[in-house]
Amino acid sequence: MLKILSNPSQIVTVDTYGKNFKRGNEQNDLNVLTGFSLVIEDDIIKDIVPNSNVNNIECDEIININNKIVLPGLVECHTHTAFSGSRADEFRDKLKGISYEEIAMHGGGINKTVNAVRNSSTNELIEIISPRINYFISQGVTTLEIKSGYGLNFENEIKLLKVINYLNEKYPIDIIPSFLGAHTIPLEYENNRKSYLNLLIDELLPYISHHNLAKYCDGFCEKTAFSVNELDELFSNAKALGLNLKVHTDQFNSLGGIDLALKFNAVSVDHLEVVNDKDIKKLGSSDIVCVLLPGVSFFLNHKYAPARKLVENNAIIALSTDFNPGSSNICNLNLIMSIAAIKMEMTIEETISAVTINAAKAIGLEKERGSIEIGKKADLAIFDTKDYSDIVYNIGKNLNNMTIKNGEIIYLSELN
Ligand code: NIG
Ligand code: FE
Repeated sequence: MLKILSNPSQIVTVDTYGKNFKRGNEQNDLNVLTGFSLVIEDDIIKDIVPNSNVNNIECDEIININNKIVLPGLVECHTHTAFSGSRADEFRDKLKGISYEEIAMHGGGINKTVNAVRNSSTNELIEIISPRINYFISQGVTTLEIKSGYGLNFENEIKLLKVINYLNEKYPIDIIPSFLGAHTIPLEYENNRKSYLNLLIDELLPYISHHNLAKYCDGFCEKTAFSVNELDELFSNAKALGLNLKVHTDQFNSLGGIDLALKFNAVSVDHLEVVNDKDIKKLGSSDIVCVLLPGVSFFLNHKYAPARKLVENNAIIALSTDFNPGSSNICNLNLIMSIAAIKMEMTIEETISAVTINAAKAIGLEKERGSIEIGKKADLAIFDTKDYSDIVYNIGKNLNNMTIKNGEIIYLSELN
């Protein structure tokens, strides 16, 4: 099946010239084409041709993009979408000045959502999570990472991972499951951290690896969560079982999570609000992706990650919502791009690289997705505007008109 997307105003290719990620200043180069059309064969980007050539190509279908713009499908690389319940009461407390860490230390925070998830059946979770996935798809998201981390015992972590895997089968987009059993210590293990760690290492990891329930093992390196030594032990075991690694680190405290991530060759370090200069240098000379989550800083009224310094030091930056009920109840990736531009002084081009190719690298899919390059999968988002700047300039507004996954239209805006 040969399809042509004809007459776009721009094709924002985010071309990496075969490198499959962008670092430092490269993140400013989007390689925007005008006067070209896109040829798709089955699920693959086959060619990019001048508009004048379109009529000479024998094809099954021409989709007239009519002056809209084509981007790579957006990649949402860090979410906690698999949760139930609400933490609006904590949000009220936060507005009064009580900190996220204080709330967590008094039994609220992550453990409150754990309670809600343990009380939700598989079917209830599927019903709650499904519209969230549809909402991401409507924004042009074609790949979505979802973490477990609100079950925190054998039964419920597996329940969440099975739900995430089921949703991956059910929805046309790729949903990448990450195991976040090391999100925090559940209340019943408060005085017995070692037993909880043993549960993760001796029971959960082997089961998850054997049943192929997660691609990544993630861990939260923080005073209210896990120490470097604890995560070191977890990650050694995860790695031995073939799981790749991700680390939530340097959100409130810089405890050594970055050295840990580098030691284990983790695919990403996520958060980095308080990352220090020494670690920035190390990140800039490594291939690890720095996943910045400015929605958290906005939601918690907290420090923003030093995006400019990271770019100056040649780091690879991705952006994500971190969608979760406690520190970023934001599932709008477009809003995150605008917050990143305004509050972290990222350029519009950098924000686009950060939600496409670099986000794909943060979940190990950069060779097949995340940019419009011949031979890659045809994952595309068509935005209803003539110039890509409008995506970041129209704050919180969804300009996505059409989402294409593996060459098929999976979403069409009613405003079409
Ligand atoms: O990425 N940092 C740890 N975990 C989440 C917050 C989860 C929650 O508060 O429920 C985050 O910010
Ligand atoms: Fe997170």
